[in-house]
Amino acid sequence: MTAPILRRLNDLRAEHGTWIRAGESVAVVPTMGALHAGHLSLVEAACAACDRVIVTIFVNPRQFNNAADLANYPRTEHEDAIKLAGLDVDVIYVPDGDQIYPDGYATNVSVSGVADVLDGEFRHGHFDGVATVVAKLFLQTGAQKAYFGQKDFQQLMVVKRMARDLDIPIEVIGCATVREASGLAMSSRNLRLSPEGLERAAKLYPVMQQVAARLVGGESFAPLADEARIKLQAAGFNDIEYFDLRCEEHLQLLDRPTRPARLLVAAWMDGIRLIDNIEVDELKA
Ligand code: PAJ
Repeated sequence: MTAPILRRLNDLRAEHGTWIRAGESVAVVPTMGALHAGHLSLVEAACAACDRVIVTIFVNPRQFNNAADLANYPRTEHEDAIKLAGLDVDVIYVPDGDQIYPDGYATNVSVSGVADVLDGEFRHGHFDGVATVVAKLFLQTGAQKAYFGQKDFQQLMVVKRMARDLDIPIEVIGCATVREASGLAMSSRNLRLSPEGLERAAKLYPVMQQVAARLVGGESFAPLADEARIKLQAAGFNDIEYFDLRCEEHLQLLDRPTRPARLLVAAWMDGIRLIDNIEVDELKA
């Protein structure tokens, strides 16, 4: 059954009130729409854990640093609702712009530390936009659990920090990255790649896996990163913004995976910016 689409905060609050009075638990899955299997895996995890599930769809202008990127972002509300109909979603919250940023809106949520590096360096203001909208969605939905993808690992860390720092009573849960059969991490941006671009972009994951395996084998990171950059350039990635090994908790640079670590990459293929990351774990190797 298709879940109702609500566009006004008052309507969402009315629904939420009846759930809370009945003692039901509520989960939220924030998205910007153009839903794919990665998003749906978060919704499934939310449905398995909570009585009520709210999926939010809001293309948040504050987190785009480029007007063309915002204008080109796919908007597929009808198809999204059909995809969600197969799951046990209670409400699809698609707030009108003024429900998030009413006239005169003047407040910004800014996280430092984990938000300053990686995408924080290359996309100025991006994480302020994310932290601000996610804080609002947490408060508007009143959910007890929120589901995010590890695909955007830095975003997950920023959101966890923000919720802890602001005492928002919500548990932020990170779910595994869903990949195409080729290994390419699913992303709404993949829709903008040609079939050849998709094939070349799929080289990223095996290169990351090889580096992770050699790190676990005891090699140090710097020479491995140089080799990987050459391979990625040969595959058609023309601008590799970062290819870093960092500790998971604070996202500080590492040369060896001496603590729980991630390999994180941002690179451009055919004018599309792709990001990916994998865990580097000695115990799981
Ligand atoms: P969006 O890119 O639509 O992603 C919504 C959620 O889906 C995020 O938590 C993201 O990490 C997760 N996701 C995307 N691709 C995934 C994949 N291949 N496997 C698993 N999870 C995946 O991220 C945003 O929207 C926005 O920044 C948002 C948090 C909604 C704030 O505006």
